[in-house]
Amino acid sequence: MSERLIEPPTLFVNASQVVTCAGPARARRGSEMNDAGVRTGVGVAVAGSRIVAVDAVASLRQHYKDAHEIDCRQGVLTPGLVDSHTHGIFGRPRFDEQEMRAAGLDYMEIARRGGGIHSSVRDLRAQSEESLLDLARVRLRRLSSFGSTTVELKSGYGLTLEDELKTLRVIAQLSRELPLRIVATFLGAHEIPLEHRGSAAARQTYVDSLINEMIPAISARQLARFADVFCETGVYTVDESRAILTAARDAGLLLKLHADELTSSGGAELAASLGATSADHLAAISDGGIAALAHASTVATLLPGTMLFLGKTKHAPARRLIEAGIAVALATDFNPGTSPTPNLPLVLTLGVSQLRLSVAEAVVAATVNGASALALADHVGQIAPGFSADLALFDIGDIRELPYWYGDNRCVATYVRGKPCYTSDLAIT
Ligand code: NIG
Ligand code: FE
Repeated sequence: MSERLIEPPTLFVNASQVVTCAGPARARRGSEMNDAGVRTGVGVAVAGSRIVAVDAVASLRQHYKDAHEIDCRQGVLTPGLVDSHTHGIFGRPRFDEQEMRAAGLDYMEIARRGGGIHSSVRDLRAQSEESLLDLARVRLRRLSSFGSTTVELKSGYGLTLEDELKTLRVIAQLSRELPLRIVATFLGAHEIPLEHRGSAAARQTYVDSLINEMIPAISARQLARFADVFCETGVYTVDESRAILTAARDAGLLLKLHADELTSSGGAELAASLGATSADHLAAISDGGIAALAHASTVATLLPGTMLFLGKTKHAPARRLIEAGIAVALATDFNPGTSPTPNLPLVLTLGVSQLRLSVAEAVVAATVNGASALALADHVGQIAPGFSADLALFDIGDIRELPYWYGDNRCVATYVRGKPCYTSDLAIT
């Protein structure tokens, strides 16, 4: 008999609110985002890895007589948060660049001088697989500690077949050993490596190697579910991005795109036309880009922490996106250059204060819509029967406090597939 069948169910009881985000198993668009399914007076029953019921505690107790109970002590229970965009596998942090930017040097200018992503590439190539694994383990624990139970991890600081494979093997190992739900993305097109920047022919050689060597090798080894490209003026053009993503799609990978982050270059239109699962950043999206996403199923993943950290005042036009009927997700973009925060609730704060989302919209953006940005919305992102028991418990009495206590960590525990994933020292026992 399997362990699942002999384990008694677990009841999560005594939560001040259960924020279910329950509804259709797909991204919420437009006004649908304004309903986070906040319920009071209910508990959650979990059997094995799945949620089996959300109901009044008295009826759950009657139905699940032998259940083990977890007392939520008047905290708020939410679906585990989904951080659908991170670059979490890197070596040295790049705190030196922060002062350079404060002194007036632009992010792209730092990159042109061989810093930025190039600096992380030099560093990652010199790191052993073991040291990258050790660094990432600790960093992922920090992400978990803020309530994230699903984390997307991109490669993209290797930029050779060998170093990209090394990064993706680290991600696969983390996924095997940690309770966290991890999704891998191949981002070999994060930059044109410096050694390929000398001429148009050298540049084309790298694009060809992405298409003809790296994508087939990664797909054959099943080391990534998604492929992504940094489509930006000075990095990959729209034509190069289209060629790379088309090859990735033909190889069976799902698509993401860093689109219109700093300048408007037609990235959102490209993502929509390729049927990408998500288009990410979008601070500089054009009117045409908004119209294109409105007619596609692509999720718009917004990363306001990046704009904050880069000292930019321009943010993605979240309200216009939602009003156009587009599904919006929020994520940290956790990376050593433009967003070194593991704190997804802080990004919710920025979602409300800078992007003008309601709290319900921000919560939906970091749960059900984050899951949809990872093609997981059929079993992740909701507290509803049949969904995976991925839960986060916060030491607050009202969900509106989650973005309110900004920068504070109110997460006391998370569960993934019904098993404890993270427990704080201040945990509710
Ligand atoms: O999403 N835009 C490209 N990639 C990251 C930055 C990575 C880095 O600077 O190391 C981003 O902002
Ligand atoms: Fe990014």
